[in-house]
Amino acid sequence: MDHRRPHLSREGTSLKIGGVGAESLAKKYGTPLYVTDVGRVTDRFEEAKAALTARSRDVLISFAYKSNSTIPVVKALARRGAGATIVSVAGIELARKAGVAPGDMVFDGPSKSKEELAAAIAAGVGMINAESVQEARDADSLCRSLGSAGVRLGFRVNFGIRAETHAGLATGGREHKFGVARDEVVRFCEKEGKKLKFVRVAGIHSHIGSQVTDAGVFRRQTEEMIDLAGELESFGFKVEEFNFGGGLGFPYRSADRELPVADYAEATAGVFARSRWGGRARPVFELGRWVVADSTVLLTRVNYVKKSGRVRWALVDAGMNDFIRPALYGAYHEIVPAWTSSAKRSAASYDVAGPVCETTDVFGKARRLGVSLAQGDLLAILDAGAYGSSMSSTYNMRPLAAVAAVQDGRGGLVSRRRF
Ligand code: LLP
Repeated sequence: MDHRRPHLSREGTSLKIGGVGAESLAKKYGTPLYVTDVGRVTDRFEEAKAALTARSRDVLISFAYKSNSTIPVVKALARRGAGATIVSVAGIELARKAGVAPGDMVFDGPSKSKEELAAAIAAGVGMINAESVQEARDADSLCRSLGSAGVRLGFRVNFGIRAETHAGLATGGREHKFGVARDEVVRFCEKEGKKLKFVRVAGIHSHIGSQVTDAGVFRRQTEEMIDLAGELESFGFKVEEFNFGGGLGFPYRSADRELPVADYAEATAGVFARSRWGGRARPVFELGRWVVADSTVLLTRVNYVKKSGRVRWALVDAGMNDFIRPALYGAYHEIVPAWTSSAKRSAASYDVAGPVCETTDVFGKARRLGVSLAQGDLLAILDAGAYGSSMSSTYNMRPLAAVAAVQDGRGGLVSRRRF
């Protein structure tokens, strides 16, 4: 039993997820195979919800679909009251299929096309978060041409808050492509915002990056949003929604710094609720990673074991196209045996790599797995639930990995390997 991951258990070198044997799933559905414990997702969701609702009324957790868009996951979350933060037309469709009411959908993205804006307006999403002032004008004229009664719009504001995270995951810096500078939002609202006929500026949105573990940064974000809301109010706008984005970090290594969800909730929902906006506006949280990261393992079969110089390679059947985080961000993911033909203990270490002809197609270096590996053994890459299957591609003309869902000892296929 893994105390950090209560849904995983092992007997010898055999791993179970949600009470289902990894090897039986791999045999049945083939590898590479993502396996998600849906119960683990909803437990994490309820934990976040409890922490936030303990501090503020009217909380909406608008799950970030980009982090995990498998249907059993989004359905289970929708049943528990999650909204949907989406960034594409297919995202709107998926949220609808999951059972999310349009009013609980949030449409984000730094470069929305006219078609995407039109689809969001036509679907009646609860909020479109604009990332340029032109987008607000465009939404207004689209509403007119679509015959829409109107749409609520928030500005994703760039407050120039730099989060300490991987450079590829920081979004809040002044010169990043994300959001609109605070003073530009103020200028626009003062001069032009009121003249829009169909667009009602009703939200403030901020997302400063992903994998953030500093409560002070979230607190600063909250204070900046409160301050701006007051200014917009003085121009006659009613701020109805404070959208705090997502970004709460997950400890991929057991030694990683972790921000307890209660501290995150305090820095956001707590500070908000005690301000004069508490009870007057709806706080929205676009959490993704924290909810789903540890729900999922990626099962992969060892094709070959070989030595190159001093390095012992375990070459597996999952590649960077199936799971790109290690190659793209140098991200660390724990790798454990999920089933081995021999249980022979060994102190050998392996570099675990995939079949794609790219030097960065490596999942882990110098990993001690406790056993010696042979062809046909099964490995599990852990904590692959956030930005795992959702970022997979068919690079090298490889079909997408299959996806299975498990819960309470039972499991089923969600999608087979496909292009
Ligand atoms: N809201 C907005 C506007 C976002 O851009 C994102 C993530 C989220 C919410 C959800 O953030 P989360 O709670 O999941 O951190 N592929 C990268 C992460 C990219 C995050 C993109 N935006 C990774 O694998 O680490």
